[in-house]
Amino acid sequence: MTHRIAIIGAGSMAHHRGQALFDTGRAQICAVASRRLAPARDCAEDLGCNVAFDNYREIAQTKPDAVLIEVPHMPQDEITIWALTSGYDVFVGGSLAVNSQIGAHIVELAADNGCLLEAGFQRRYDAAWEEIHRLVQSRELGEPVMAVTMALWRAPAGSWYADQLVSGGMPLTHMSYCYLNAIRWILGTPTVVSALASAGVLGEAERVQEETCAALVGFENGAFLSATASYIRPEKMTDAETRFICSAGGIQVDDSTLTVFRGAQSETQSFVAEPSAFVRQADAFLDAVELRTAARNPPADALLDLQIAEAISLSAREQRTVTL
Ligand SMILES: NC(=O)c1ccc[n+]([C@@H]2O[C@H](COP(=O)([O-])OP(=O)(O)OC[C@H]3O[C@@H](n4cnc5c(N)ncnc54)[C@H](OP(=O)(O)O)[C@@H]3O)[C@@H](O)[C@H]2O)c1
Repeated sequence: MTHRIAIIGAGSMAHHRGQALFDTGRAQICAVASRRLAPARDCAEDLGCNVAFDNYREIAQTKPDAVLIEVPHMPQDEITIWALTSGYDVFVGGSLAVNSQIGAHIVELAADNGCLLEAGFQRRYDAAWEEIHRLVQSRELGEPVMAVTMALWRAPAGSWYADQLVSGGMPLTHMSYCYLNAIRWILGTPTVVSALASAGVLGEAERVQEETCAALVGFENGAFLSATASYIRPEKMTDAETRFICSAGGIQVDDSTLTVFRGAQSETQSFVAEPSAFVRQADAFLDAVELRTAARNPPADALLDLQIAEAISLSAREQRTVTL
């Protein structure tokens, strides 16, 4: 069965995820829309489609089965609400919404209209992270104690990523590369957040309120996550490798390679040859569309990512621990 997918947005992730959908062999891109026609045309052409619009509502003419939305978070909300109200199944490129209040409305709208809605967190579909999930959940390495992550990226000056209002802030946008979504899939229910942040170091106008942020997220089972993210990145410095520490072992994650520590032994497993997480998530979304069952990032669950990002900002601004 071939699914007709319309894409709204024509930037880097529209290309990337559009290609992933195409690579499943089960999707046809039927239209691409962005505010400017030229990039929409280029993106459409790259994905084997000759229909482009400069007004997203016009995608309705092409009768899509589902919509992929790949735009900055603030305009994403209006577009998601329109797509769900129009009855389309929706795949959003990143977080569900710009904040949890709008997110809750979107969750309700998807349920009321019987639409599938999948948030764009692909790590839950990454073969290496599926193995981490298995190792931690099975308690093969003992009880989970903590996870440690770091995400550094120099947001281009003037880009929407650096704009507090349009992005929803750094904890929502860039801190997702601390894999909060995948880590809570592995560690369970988050209960408490404590964070510190700094801002204005880069000194550019309209920058986000939290430019650098360190957050501790506590889980119901007593484990916690220590996550550090920043829009400041020394040139050529890489992010720290993600680690999971358990009572009888641990895991070090270097892209698609895991080093698993058990007692005095360590073993390296490579998942480089596995299909990309983007293609696996695209496949899962199409399965969900066919079977009318949620994939791994259903809306009510994805709402938690928004609540955690808000709790991080609140904790840093008010210098207090926030209970979720
Ligand atoms: N999962 C991941 O690993 C990952 C990685 C990076 C980003 N993301 C997420 O992917 C999404 C897209 O990010 P990106 O990096 O692709 O952004 P981008 O490259 O800046 O592209 C944004 C696109 O949105 C379009 N756009 C902006 N406002 C619009 C509007 N009101 N109506 C229609 N189109 C509009 C822009 O074109 P016009 O200006 O012509 O409208 C542009 O084509 C975000 O949710 C981001 O958080 C996820």
